[in-house]
Amino acid sequence: MSTVELSGVSHAYGRTQALSDVSLSVEPEEVVAVTGPSGCGKSTLLLLTAGVLRAQSGRVVVAGTELSGADDAARARFRRRQIGLVLQFGQLVEDLSVRDNVALPLLLEGHRPAEARAAADGWLDRVGLPVDPGTMPADLSGGQAQLAAGARALVTGPRLLLADEPTASLDPAAGRVLLDLLVGTTVQAGGSVVLVSHDNAVAARADREVRLRRGAIAHQVALS
Ligand SMILES: Nc1ncnc2c1ncn2[C@@H]1O[C@H](COP(=O)(O)OP(=O)(O)OP(=O)(O)O)[C@@H](O)[C@H]1O
Ligand SMILES: [Mg+2]
Repeated sequence: MSTVELSGVSHAYGRTQALSDVSLSVEPEEVVAVTGPSGCGKSTLLLLTAGVLRAQSGRVVVAGTELSGADDAARARFRRRQIGLVLQFGQLVEDLSVRDNVALPLLLEGHRPAEARAAADGWLDRVGLPVDPGTMPADLSGGQAQLAAGARALVTGPRLLLADEPTASLDPAAGRVLLDLLVGTTVQAGGSVVLVSHDNAVAARADREVRLRRGAIAHQVALS
């Protein structure tokens, strides 16, 4: 079973057609880089795959579950369990500590707080952002917020890791560490990774590059 199956997916914001009839599968252990110029629909594709947006037409199936037919609550629940999502600016909850932000997906799934926080500390260490328990999102730089978002995406051991410009605010060394963890951890566990990036170092980690142009797949290239 493919981890991701998009069939004939289209999405418009008002009169802006962001994606038109996109079909794409991602297999277990596969790493796909989605590239293309600004505004071509990369983030929209990622948000539809994550179930943050619901496709206006076509089908989005992730790990056998049809997200395009599920309501908001069901998509959110599915995402919490199966998908790790890293957005460009971290998107942390401002009034929770950084540690609790990372622990949150586990806390929401009913894990014991002490266990969830210990797991969060472990991932924060691995991404290179050891923090005090009291550190708040407002205390972090943009790059540090990205590291925390990476830790949060990994804490549940997702089947599907989706990342939108995950290294955009990081220096090359920190970006490499985060990318190694996002890709390495997920693939080793049999999961799949979709990376959106302008950065060649990120695309170089992929098995396949999918290039979008004006909301459609312009071409695909097998890498490596
Ligand atoms: N929330 C929104 N409301 C209205 N239009 C939007 C919204 N989000 C995206 N768009 C439009 O949809 C199109 C695709 O946007 P998208 O963000 O998917 O592009 P992108 O490839 O991720 O671009 P970038 O590389 O700049 O991040 C663009 O024309 C954009 O202006
Ligand atoms: Mg984008």
